[in-house]
Amino acid sequence: MKAAFAPKYGQADVVEIRDLPRPVPQTGEVLVEVHATTVTRTDRETLRAHPWFARPMTGLMRPKQPVLGVDFAGRVAEVGAGVTGFSPGDRVFGLSPVRNGCHAEFVAVAADGAIARLPDTIPFHEAVVGEGVWYAHSNLEAFGLGPGQNALIYGASGAIGTAALQLAKVRDATVTAVVGPQHMALAHDLGADLVIDYTSEDFTRRPERYDLVFDAVGKTTYPACRRLLKPDGAFYASDLGPWGQTAWLALWSAIARTRRVAIGMPRDPRDVIGFLGDMLADGRYRAVIDSHYPLDDIADAYAHVATEQKTGIVVVDVKPG
Ligand SMILES: NC(=O)c1ccc[n+]([C@@H]2O[C@H](COP(=O)([O-])OP(=O)(O)OC[C@H]3O[C@@H](n4cnc5c(N)ncnc54)[C@H](OP(=O)(O)O)[C@@H]3O)[C@@H](O)[C@H]2O)c1
Repeated sequence: MKAAFAPKYGQADVVEIRDLPRPVPQTGEVLVEVHATTVTRTDRETLRAHPWFARPMTGLMRPKQPVLGVDFAGRVAEVGAGVTGFSPGDRVFGLSPVRNGCHAEFVAVAADGAIARLPDTIPFHEAVVGEGVWYAHSNLEAFGLGPGQNALIYGASGAIGTAALQLAKVRDATVTAVVGPQHMALAHDLGADLVIDYTSEDFTRRPERYDLVFDAVGKTTYPACRRLLKPDGAFYASDLGPWGQTAWLALWSAIARTRRVAIGMPRDPRDVIGFLGDMLADGRYRAVIDSHYPLDDIADAYAHVATEQKTGIVVVDVKPG
């Protein structure tokens, strides 16, 4: 099968298209013929071994999993022994966060993992939003965002930001989205109650007060946002923040039990895949797609993701149509 292979750590240009053996589904596994996948910020950070302290997990000298890729959507090609929930031909989607391997024509995943049937009405390329939804959901769930609460989402135009905005609206929160000028219409379309252009206004000087400020791009800080928080409000982030400061403040917050600063730890991805198909089918969740690349051009997709300026997700069409 054709796959995108990273023989060493580096930038987009280290990724090569290779012919690799097709995986054989083991007991309890499903072999998926991948129709669509994505290049995410996680793939890009894994490719360049960032942060350095992740190397014991991702591989000390080179990527332990040389075929990256977390999101998949496609059809079941084969099932391993003991699998009863899926059959060849089923349309499925999901996440492979530990073994990765989705940047390929076939990927083997656990049948009891983060995989679910994909409703017929949803094209494969619209179903590969899972990773952004996973991180956004993990943070909103850890905070416990609910009806009537007021949330500000900083960087509401990225994969995690567009997911956080939509999920916060599903939770009946009032949402302020902070985005660049070219993303203001999108943020309104996704349901934001108030949209602020970070290039023309200092959002930290606004009069509103929030239960939750969620930094979805790791480009603001708790000290900058502190005055926006209600007395029992909290600052959550999807990233370690400038110079890792959000991580240190989150650690201090946990030790002091203040709940003031946190980085929501990834929850069980099966929960996300469980509800995402229904939300895509009934229109409560909409895929925001920046661009499409064929698998042969995946290095270009990596280079684009590295600009840190994508809008939503970057799709790789492994088997178009
Ligand atoms: N916790 C985890 O394990 C985990 C997993 C995945 C990702 N992450 C981190 O989460 C963050 C978000 O990931 P992502 O994939 O959602 O990012 P992304 O899609 O690459 O985000 C890009 C978006 O952010 C906007 N942006 C860039 N600079 C901005 C700024 N200064 N203020 C506001 N918006 C800005 C860009 O639009 P404009 O530049 O046009 O405004 C663009 O639309 C990243 O830092 C990533 O490393 C963490």
